[in-house]
Amino acid sequence: MVDKMFPLGLIGYPLSHSLSPWIHQSFFEKVDLSGTYKLYEIEPEIFSVKLSEIKEKVVGFNVTLPYMEKIISYIDKLDDTATGSGAVNTVVKKGSGLIGYNTDGIVYYRTLFNDKQLRVLLIGAGGAARGIFHALLLNGVKNIDITNRTLEHAEQLVEDFSSTTNIYSLDAISKHLEHYDLIIQTTSVGMAPKDQEAIICLDAIKKTAIVSDIVYRPLETNLLKEARKQGAHIHYGHTMLLHQAAYAFEIWTGKTVSLDTMAEELQIKLKGS
Ligand code: ATR
Repeated sequence: MVDKMFPLGLIGYPLSHSLSPWIHQSFFEKVDLSGTYKLYEIEPEIFSVKLSEIKEKVVGFNVTLPYMEKIISYIDKLDDTATGSGAVNTVVKKGSGLIGYNTDGIVYYRTLFNDKQLRVLLIGAGGAARGIFHALLLNGVKNIDITNRTLEHAEQLVEDFSSTTNIYSLDAISKHLEHYDLIIQTTSVGMAPKDQEAIICLDAIKKTAIVSDIVYRPLETNLLKEARKQGAHIHYGHTMLLHQAAYAFEIWTGKTVSLDTMAEELQIKLKGS
């Protein structure tokens, strides 16, 4: 009998530096499945046409910027992980239909923290913050505050989730930082080539706090450097990337992958890139 083959891929624009092909090839090898993971860079003007072509070639795909919201109008059924967050990063083809999921944040939180009592501060109110906010709510976390440059964006997010969240400006947050057990940075601030930037000053954090940054280039952002100097625990951006990928892989193939040495391997790759 010929083993099932899994043609997968990623749609987005632009896509040049994606680590996902490497991650999913490693997953295939780990669980002894055959499959491919291709990059499909789609220019916005030809999105619909290209998407129809890609649908014919794959059994599932990831979606990244700028299409995580746009894809929803092409999806036939949304999983709970995607319904609330308003963004889809993983799609499964079932018959001729598409099912949309959002694997950002949910397993990351469950695996690494799994504590509903943690007081969480989200930095940012864009698409990534939305996915993580929703994942926290699905994990039963209730104490979530937000700090963002534009307060209206944070207010909109909180309204969409009907949540009772405190919202602070980036300037005001320093006075409240000692409240938080977990601080998750969800904006692109600090990403190479602007890697000298840090979105807030962490001088006043609790020494036992955990600081997590979704930016993974550079591996250790300025914000994480600051957190480390303060004695806090840090979580690099690529750990979240790996967890969302592993959950997507499980949805497509039914196989659970162990991430054991992958975080270290990915670190080496990132240092060399
Ligand atoms: P994504 O969908 O990737 O999250 P986005 O929707 O553009 O991207 O959201 C980016 C987030 O980064 C927002 O919270 C944005 O703040 P605003 O709501 O004020 O726009 C934040 N952000 C981006 N550049 C920033 C900067 N230079 N300083 C502070 N916040 C910034």
